Amino acid sequence: MDEIIIKEDHFTVFLDEATIQKRVKELSEELLRAYKGKTPIFIGILNGAFPFLTDLVKNYNGLCEVEFMKLSSYGDAKISSGNVKVVKELEIDISGKDIIIVEDIVDTGLSVKYIERMLESHNPASVAVVTLLLKPESLKYNVKIDYIGFSIPSKFVIGYGLDYEQKYRNLKAIYALK
Ligand code: IMP
Repeated sequence: MDEIIIKEDHFTVFLDEATIQKRVKELSEELLRAYKGKTPIFIGILNGAFPFLTDLVKNYNGLCEVEFMKLSSYGDAKISSGNVKVVKELEIDISGKDIIIVEDIVDTGLSVKYIERMLESHNPASVAVVTLLLKPESLKYNVKIDYIGFSIPSKFVIGYGLDYEQKYRNLKAIYALK
């Protein structure tokens, strides 16, 4: 699929499947080196992070745990509402644990800031953030992103977990609004 048309909007391939898979494998290997001798807990932020988290841990050739949290999202709009709410809490004790927050995309940085603060109040040994995509020009909050798949322009993207009105998360490639 080269182009997807949703309503009046045209989306074209921005990152193809092979490019994504290659970069995800590199990130897994980098994490494996960084967490040598440790058992990190990957915390995927639903819904968007699920394909990235899956591929990231499949390529992570070491001991790890996997958990999920869900925040309230953008709703069906393409711009941030500025509100974050936890919809699904973390159900484990993370004190003394090494946490890796897994995000699909960091846009304003609000979600990551919120999660980081919340997790840090539970005394983990460490908290790191890995995101597949980062829109540096959209950042509004002072967040430290430890591992970045791709830095991208501030364009709206869909696929590989990213949605348009909750759809298109199942696309293998990432498409950008023309
Ligand atoms: P932030 O809190 O502003 O950093 O936004 C993070 C969340 O916004 C992501 O987890 C996505 O759910 C959503 N988001 C931001 N940009 C896009 C995009 O281009 N496509 C789809 N979802 C996006």
